[in-house]
Amino acid sequence: MNHFLDIYKTEPAALRAILDDAMAMKKARAGQPRGALDAQTPLEGHMVALIFEKPSTRTRVSFDVGVRQMGGETMVLSGSDMQLGHGETIADTARVLSRYVDLIMIRTFDEAVLLEMAEYATVPVINGLTDRTHPCQIMADVMTYEEHRGPIKGKKVVWCGDGNNVCASFLHAAAQFQFDLTFAGPAQLDPEDEFVGLARKAGCSILIERDADKAVQGADLVVADTWVSMHDSQSTKERRHNQLRPYQVNKQLLDRANSDALFMHCLPAHREEEVTSEVMDGPSSVIFDEAENRLHAQKAIMRYCLGR
Ligand code: CP
Ligand code: NVA
Repeated sequence: MNHFLDIYKTEPAALRAILDDAMAMKKARAGQPRGALDAQTPLEGHMVALIFEKPSTRTRVSFDVGVRQMGGETMVLSGSDMQLGHGETIADTARVLSRYVDLIMIRTFDEAVLLEMAEYATVPVINGLTDRTHPCQIMADVMTYEEHRGPIKGKKVVWCGDGNNVCASFLHAAAQFQFDLTFAGPAQLDPEDEFVGLARKAGCSILIERDADKAVQGADLVVADTWVSMHDSQSTKERRHNQLRPYQVNKQLLDRANSDALFMHCLPAHREEEVTSEVMDGPSSVIFDEAENRLHAQKAIMRYCLGR
């Protein structure tokens, strides 16, 4: 049984196999209606619990559709409707759910909830985002980069903005897939030292740059994310906007990157804040392929977890 808790916790060979599988599954169902079953249905007879303690569009729909395409069934649960939100321990919840379902995906706040779920569940647990990381997203992002431009190994990724959960998983991916990453953002919102250290230890060049113009020079991929994440207090919004405004990805900034650089954003985006519509809808943007690839990457992650 394999959990999928973070990119750095899964071996590079397994990550590569997941991406190969995702690409093969994507190709195999090209042109099929979204609701059609895959030719092979490895999740037939399997029940998957999708638990959300935070809002979601992409994660919720892509996991749900992905399970169904592979012949399985889902149960979408909101944390507040479960006894989990009313005092039942995570450990007890994990042991109970493991008697009913074959796989648990959870989106939550505190990473400790995910880890405790994984410790006590006797079925695989997948991280659907915590305050600290978002590994499924970055598997889709690496897949999307490689689909458009070939191997990501040795490429330069520039993260513009808040050193948040999505940025953290990019650092983990840098370590496992061997690419370089430059963080462009204010010192107050730097990524965690632990994750920067982990990528550097793996031999990647990880630079922290305060000047966005300098950072994007030579970039193969430029990435932005919301300035205020779901776990951030709304009372910090104005301060964050002031700190992050110099890191907006606009055409002028993107023009400093390599001519074939791609732009990504995990979405949801706040147009004209962290990124302009001109960039989001422009020729370098692959944001909707990125969103689609959540489906294919997560199907492969689920197969890896279930050994099917
Ligand atoms: N990118 C992402 O995880 O989107 P949702 O919050 O809509 O799931
Ligand atoms: N950093 C964002 C990502 C949303 C998919 C958040 O946590 O809200």
